[in-house]
Amino acid sequence: MTLDLNDVTLTYPDGDHRLTALDRVSLRVDRGSLAAVVGPSGSGKSSLLAVAATLITPDSGTVGIDGTVTTGMSRRELTALRRTKIGIVFQQPNLVASLTAAEQLQVMAQIDGRSPGGARPRAMELLDAVGLAGQADRRPHQLSGGQRQRVNIARALMNDPTVLLIDEPTSALDHERGAAVLGLITELTHRNATATVLVTHDRTHLTAVDRIAEVHDGRLTTPVPN
Ligand SMILES: Nc1ncnc2c1ncn2[C@@H]1O[C@H](COP(=O)(O)OP(=O)(O)O)[C@@H](O)[C@H]1O
Ligand SMILES: [Mg+2]
Repeated sequence: MTLDLNDVTLTYPDGDHRLTALDRVSLRVDRGSLAAVVGPSGSGKSSLLAVAATLITPDSGTVGIDGTVTTGMSRRELTALRRTKIGIVFQQPNLVASLTAAEQLQVMAQIDGRSPGGARPRAMELLDAVGLAGQADRRPHQLSGGQRQRVNIARALMNDPTVLLIDEPTSALDHERGAAVLGLITELTHRNATATVLVTHDRTHLTAVDRIAEVHDGRLTTPVPN
């Protein structure tokens, strides 16, 4: 199993008590498969992604990435694991204002210790895959919201992750652009054989996903086949 969250509980400090953000959550996603996690605001979706991304260590339970259980790994090991195996698309694109679309992607290779110039062909290929071949040399302010979100998604694929985690990709987009981004995520999941988790509060575009799990108050309902 490529992504394997097993019986994960996560709490945050909350005054004198602790708030349970994830309550014994288990979720397994294989390569080439797209799982949607839906739930209202505050239900624990972003927390689930942060745990799956190994950015937060849960109170209990385990996270497996590509057959490796991450429990007990050092910070350094986790950083290396994230760089090589995990693509994260945060809700806010966080693009660098001074860089072109292609450079936003090339920087990922540089962080990974490779030459940004050498990464140009891969960056162009991914921009083409997300429909932005003609926008490679534009900076964020020259792109629409939908285009910025596509750059955000392409950037997460730069290091060929096996696990792709996407937080509310359509929340800032209108209906048509939202549907197109969802279609793109489905296609990229199959083409790059990623184990993809997509979280959203909005069920509208979830017709082509492999399954939908619902989260309420940190509890995941048994995933049902879509
Ligand atoms: N860093 C944090 N510290 C304390 N509480 C948090 C933190 N992050 C999230 N929470 C709380 O955990 C719950 C789940 O939040 P979150 O995972 O962001 O939900 P969602 O993404 O579904 O809106 C909410 O009650 C939220 O207020
Ligand atoms: Mg959230």
